[in-house]
Formats: sequence, structure tokens, C-alpha cells
Amino acid sequence: WSIMAQAQQPFVANMDESKVGNFTLPNPLQKPDGSIIKNKKDWEKHRGYWLAQFQQTMYGKMPEKKLKQSSQLVSRTEILGGKAIQYIWTITFEGKHSISVLGVLPNKSAKVPVFLGLNFCGNQTTNTDKRIPIFEKYVVCNEATQFKNNLGQAESRGAQASRWQFEKLIDAGYGSITVACGDFEEDLPTGYQNGIRTTLADQLGLKTEEWSAIGAWAWGLSSMVDFLETIPQVDAQKIILHGHSRLGKAALWAAANDQRFAAIISNESGEGGAALTRRNYGENLWRITNSFPHWFLKSYQHYAYKENELPFDQHILLSLLAPRPLYVASAMGDQWSDPKGEFLGAQNTEAVYQLYRKPGLGTVAFPGLNAPVGKQVRYHIREGKHDMTLYDWEQYIKFARELVK
Ligand code: GCU
Repeated sequence: WSIMAQAQQPFVANMDESKVGNFTLPNPLQKPDGSIIKNKKDWEKHRGYWLAQFQQTMYGKMPEKKLKQSSQLVSRTEILGGKAIQYIWTITFEGKHSISVLGVLPNKSAKVPVFLGLNFCGNQTTNTDKRIPIFEKYVVCNEATQFKNNLGQAESRGAQASRWQFEKLIDAGYGSITVACGDFEEDLPTGYQNGIRTTLADQLGLKTEEWSAIGAWAWGLSSMVDFLETIPQVDAQKIILHGHSRLGKAALWAAANDQRFAAIISNESGEGGAALTRRNYGENLWRITNSFPHWFLKSYQHYAYKENELPFDQHILLSLLAPRPLYVASAMGDQWSDPKGEFLGAQNTEAVYQLYRKPGLGTVAFPGLNAPVGKQVRYHIREGKHDMTLYDWEQYIKFARELVK
């Protein structure tokens, strides 16, 4: 079978562990001249090399310029029986591109750590409060009554509230900040046309084809840090970045580029996220670049069925987050995301975390269900489907309490 012939067959995901195949992972500590990095100082000099590899091959360049942001407070409302304040802000970049940010912060004046994450389907899906404007751009959600033609309807209010758990976070002393990913770029192949890759192309200094939708979402997350640094109630040294699935991929890419995120949570980010690309299990490179061509550089497709030729694998992306706390999570009912591949991605960061004298996962044994392992690098696989659940949040709050101080 030639690679071409294989790529033209209808795609059937391999879900058989015995057919995963053999592979050798690139060593994050090995430099192109063959020498091995032995300390954190040399790693810090070298990490730019790996970032450049991901930029050239997979996610595209990241704009380096900071943009002028102006923010306007649209509303400030007491919620959760007075325990929290809900903020809605409009942020405009260079007077040209506006987004809507939702913040839920404890009702007190002290600075608090916050969880920051993009949402799939509009801020109104996180909670039923009628003051939150219905997101008017294209979303990937399309449940019959809540969304029509990929646009949120009134019924979409609170549709994904279980993925946000605002009250749990407030009770634990955290705030939560979110923006719809589509406010930066709508999630479809033509999404770049109304997104920041086009509207801010001159200001950001990149051509649309030089980067990707995941890059645009990741840039959006960094721009949120710029914004949060101006909010007195937010402790911007303690921003815990989280992302589910495709937005987990974006979170990992954002944190690899931007060291201001204090801790990172990848919830079921799968292929192109925390899962090893060389493992032929679940979604693969051919499938993801065909289903979602806008997520990556066009040239990334050339590695379909040639994954062993990639200069890196996703454990190196995760290693770029060191020494920060990292949580990778999977779900048993989400084999598409390759839980074992996600576990191995997290596990293979150990060499780099150890340069900082931080423990990695500390185990090679795949854990049982609902039994988190690790410390600075943590992993769990829970029962249930592809989602971000109360169980996941309980682990993330515990993780943040222990490690983001
Ligand atoms: C699809 C896609 C995954 C992605 C997921 C999601 O299943 O194939 O790569 O992570 O959508 O974002 O929910």
C-alpha cells in the first residue's frame, strides 16, 4: 500500500491497541547536533528551537506585536445570591475588532486567581443569565432547538453550564473568565475571513496563511492575559488556563508561546493536542487535517501517514510548558482522543520537568478510572464521554489549590 492509496481510503480509526505500531519519540533534550541538554539554562536557550519547529510545521507563526486594546464595561451584576459579580466587557483591538468577554469573580475586593478558557458556542451557553448577549457569530454547536444553522438561539442559554461550574469555582475562591473562540475566529475553513487573522492582519504583521485557527485562538488567549493584567480584582500571576478538546489544543499552543499562564489544563485535547501523533489510534493526522484544514498550516498535511518524519511529537509541546503545573485528562468513552496517547504525552515530559527538579507524572503505569496520578504533571481518565464534567472540575480545583500559590 502506498501512502497515497492509504490516504484515499475511507477513514476508519484504529481502535485496536495491538495495531498501534512501533515508533521512537524524538528526545526533547537532544539538539540537532546530537548533543544532550543537561540543565534548565540550556533548555531555556533551546526551547525557542522547538517552538520554531511547531510554528513552521504545524500551528504557524505567532504574532509578536502587542496590540492596543480598549475595554468597555458593559455590565456588572451581582449573581449567585450576591457571592459573585458577573462582568461583561467589550474589548476592541486597534479600534478594528471587538470581542465580548464574560467574567465571574468573587464579590470581594481582593485579587483572586482565575481560570481562563475559551468556549465553543457563545458566552450565553455558560449560564442562563439573560444579561449575557447571545453570541451572533457561527458556532460549531447545532442541537436542534438551541442553535439554528450554527447560530445560538435564546434556548442556548446555559446549554453548556455544566462545563463551567461557576458556583463551584466561586466557592473555592476562584474567578472564571471566558470568550467564545469564534470571537477571534469562527471555526470553519472560511472563518479567517471575519477573524483576527484578516481584520488585524496589518497590525499583527502576518499573512492569513502564515498561521492557523488554533494560532488565532491561542493569540486570543494571550490577549486575554494582557486584558486581565488591567483588572484590579484579578491576580494575573495566577491565571490557570484550561481548554476542552479543540480548545485544549489551542490552550496548549498558547501556553507554549506565552509563559504568563501559571498552570495549564488540557481536557481531552486529543490529536493535535496532548496525544502523541505517532500513535496510530483514534483520530489521526490525515483525518484531522482533512476534517479541519483551517486548524493547522496547510503543509502539516504532508505528514499524513508519515508521522515518524515529524521533527517533534506532542510530548515536546507539553514539555514547553515546564516547569508550570500541567494537567492532562481523558475520558474512557472518548477513545477518539486516544487516552493512552494523552497519558504518554504527559508522561514523556518528565525529562524536561526534571531539569527543574519538578516531578513529572512519576509513573509508567496507565491509571485506573477516576484515579488521578502525578503531581506537577497530572493525569486522569474518568468514566463517561467526551466532555468537561463536575468530576474534572473537582480535580482541577484541587490541582490549582495545591500548585498555584
Ligand atoms: C472533533 C475533532 C477533535 C476535536 C473535537 C472537539 O472530534 O476530531 O480533534 O478535539 O472535535 O473539539 O470536540
